[in-house]
Amino acid sequence: MLSETDVSARGLADLPEVQSDSLLQLIALCDADTRPEKIDVGVGVFRDGEGRTPILQVIKEAERILNATQETKAYLGGYGDKRFAELLRPILLGEHAADHRIIGLQTPGGCGALRLGFELIATANPRARVLVGTPTWPNHPPIINSVGLGMVDYPYYERGQGSIRFDDMMAALANAEPGDVALLHGCCHNPTGADLDAEQWRQVTEAIVERRLIPFVDIAYQGFGRGLEEDAAGLRGLLAACDEVIVAQSCDKNFSVYRDRVGSLFVKTGSREATERAMAHVLQRAREMWSMPPDHGAAAVRIVLDTPELRDRWLGELAAMRDRINSVRQRIAAADARLAFIGRQFGMFSMLPLSKEQVLKLRESHAIYMADSGRFNIVGMSDGQIGRFIAAVVEAMDA
Ligand SMILES: Cc1ncc(COP(=O)(O)O)c(C=O)c1O
Repeated sequence: MLSETDVSARGLADLPEVQSDSLLQLIALCDADTRPEKIDVGVGVFRDGEGRTPILQVIKEAERILNATQETKAYLGGYGDKRFAELLRPILLGEHAADHRIIGLQTPGGCGALRLGFELIATANPRARVLVGTPTWPNHPPIINSVGLGMVDYPYYERGQGSIRFDDMMAALANAEPGDVALLHGCCHNPTGADLDAEQWRQVTEAIVERRLIPFVDIAYQGFGRGLEEDAAGLRGLLAACDEVIVAQSCDKNFSVYRDRVGSLFVKTGSREATERAMAHVLQRAREMWSMPPDHGAAAVRIVLDTPELRDRWLGELAAMRDRINSVRQRIAAADARLAFIGRQFGMFSMLPLSKEQVLKLRESHAIYMADSGRFNIVGMSDGQIGRFIAAVVEAMDA
């Protein structure tokens, strides 16, 4: 027990304040706004034309089946649902699905996969540095820092032009040391929406091979860009060219099961034996953190993928989400030449060419909530709100 003389003792009461995540602050601000017309394009969840984030019909159906047939909730083990990972293989890996040097396991969402993948890198080579193109998803740096790996930033995006700073990216790869890690967004780059094209993927892959880097692909939106196959093409090119690849995958968006935390980590090395050894380390790290992933969401996804009729219907529901994203993109792009770049980008996010002051003005005058950087969720608004959103953004750009 602490006595009054233990003045130097550190208790929980001594903890410093945490600087709250700016996105969480934005959510709180938006929640507190009572204006009925408010538009929330800050949060990163898919919304349909009516502004809802519905549970997919195929997930509802799979949950009914799960409820009726599941006989036990006994532990599944560190790998989670093995059939889930097996069924994901062809979707994610395509022609590499049969490569026995690639092993996957279920994780608590894409975040869990990212953490585990970086844990694996840090275990193998604590001196490895992670090359990160900026801006990136705000959770990347803290996850990388949390495992003690160093980070090298390079500029990825030219805001004014809406284009990738590809020369800077290639220079960063050329200057990396063998064993360094190249963190890449598989598709639907968050926050910029600016994806590498096929030729750029080819050049990036070539540089990675040449510099003997390890590609780490974060793919959280497969199917939200051009299609399931197209969105995984860059990843598959890397798998064809590289002996060592790490893939952090998420089903949380493309199955709309966000809070159920459904993801996977796939690891490729030069041999089956080396991958098995790597996975033993992965399991050990997982054991220290969450022991085993949660079952429910992955079981529902497994049932969808394992039932041909549900699988087909899922493809339809996924296509409907993708079509909405791309049609809202086209509508915004057509409204003003300064927004045309949005029509050439992919996924749920893009960055508006607005200053922080203009973003704040939109918040105050129009109850439109987006990140200070101008990043906004393309499908954050309902169909009925799109016109007002575009008019307000154009007015802000003109001001
Ligand atoms: C780029 C990126 N990677 C990973 C994730 C993690 O997704 P999950 O919710 O499955 O942890 C997200 C979620 O927003 C993301 O945008």
